[in-house]
Amino acid sequence: MQTNHSNNQVLLVDDEADIREVLCIALKDLGYLVLEADNGEEALNIFKDQSPPIVLTDIKMPTMDGIELLKRIKNENPECEVIMISGHGDMSLAIKSLKHEATDFITKPINVDALEISLKRANDKIIMRNKLKAYTENLELLIREKIELQDNLSALGLMIGSISHGIKGLLTGLDGGIYLVNAGIRKKNLNQIEEGWEVVILMIDRVRRMTGDILLHTKQRDLDRRPADLLSLVSEVALTVEPKAAKYGITFIRDFDAMAGEGLIDAGYISTALINILENAIDACTHTKAAVDKRITFGLRTDKRHIIFTIQDNGIGMDLDAREKIFSLFYSSKGKKGTGLGLFIANKIIGQHGGTINVDSVLGHGSIFTLKIPITSAQKVSDPVKVM
Ligand SMILES: Nc1ncnc2c1ncn2[C@@H]1O[C@H](COP(=O)(O)OP(=O)(O)OP(=O)(O)O)[C@@H](O)[C@H]1O
Ligand SMILES: [Mg+2]
Repeated sequence: MQTNHSNNQVLLVDDEADIREVLCIALKDLGYLVLEADNGEEALNIFKDQSPPIVLTDIKMPTMDGIELLKRIKNENPECEVIMISGHGDMSLAIKSLKHEATDFITKPINVDALEISLKRANDKIIMRNKLKAYTENLELLIREKIELQDNLSALGLMIGSISHGIKGLLTGLDGGIYLVNAGIRKKNLNQIEEGWEVVILMIDRVRRMTGDILLHTKQRDLDRRPADLLSLVSEVALTVEPKAAKYGITFIRDFDAMAGEGLIDAGYISTALINILENAIDACTHTKAAVDKRITFGLRTDKRHIIFTIQDNGIGMDLDAREKIFSLFYSSKGKKGTGLGLFIANKIIGQHGGTINVDSVLGHGSIFTLKIPITSAQKVSDPVKVM
């Protein structure tokens, strides 16, 4: 018979060389690789070194007997199958060994058929245990996948609900704009037409931003990190939002370190994150009732280990409760005007870069968002830079 498990070693322990010799031949005939020991101590050393799945041991041996060896082996590895060899008058010892989790016992003089049956039993147990392990692992994987799927489905459901809600709001806005334009045309009132047209443009801009954000969220692609000139990146981001800031009378301050150098980042993603946070800063400034000069400071600097972007505003600020929710999917305090995707996405992008976003905010006084991205080894922060 050939054994059918991958590790077909058997550790044979007997103090009598003749018996070992006979058993060794029988075991080899049955297809096993035989490791031999003539006492318990040596057997334990071999066991620790080779981890054979099956041990065949005599019960009566000088110094360490078979039962003691059985206990120690089970202590080392409870899954090892130990078959005891007992003399004719040792029935009580053989039964005692079963109490200590021996797989089976065979009696001397050894009948090869009985040995084969015992070994088959031990092998069957090993195969069953391995199958059970594989099933359990598979089951755990399936459960994990199911939970993930459920999470994704509920996030998707939440998202579809929110998108529909958002679109409804945008359509209301568009209807309002179109109504104004039509009324203006009817009355030949250019101011009203312009007013309505501005609403239409604003709503289209929101659709565009919302679509971009949703695509970014649903299709989580891997980062495309390339060396990017940090000063150029922040300058372009500033150019994108400055007109809007100007429109609301907000002073926009660029506080960039011209020596910031290059960063190994996904520039498109980082721009998206920065624009989302800057747009929030503009919103925060437009919503404040405090009689202060509205101001946003956009900063770029590096230290030895990080690229650091800061966005500070003196707008409405947040209380602790809001501060704790802002990165949650769909959290927004802006009603129909916000989807609550901006910071969720920004946080995800910075997280993907191995970085963090820290927020300090005081209700009524403003907020500062600090984005820290670790400099990877491939980055050359102090390289000469292209100044815009
Ligand atoms: N600079 C800030 N000052 C005060 N509150 C802020 C600031 N930035 C974010 N918040 C709060 O965090 C919330 C979540 O911001 P987030 O950008 O995720 O969504 P949103 O701006 O409401 O909608 P949108 O998806 O259009 O960006 C905002 O609604 C606002 O309450
Ligand atoms: Mg936002």
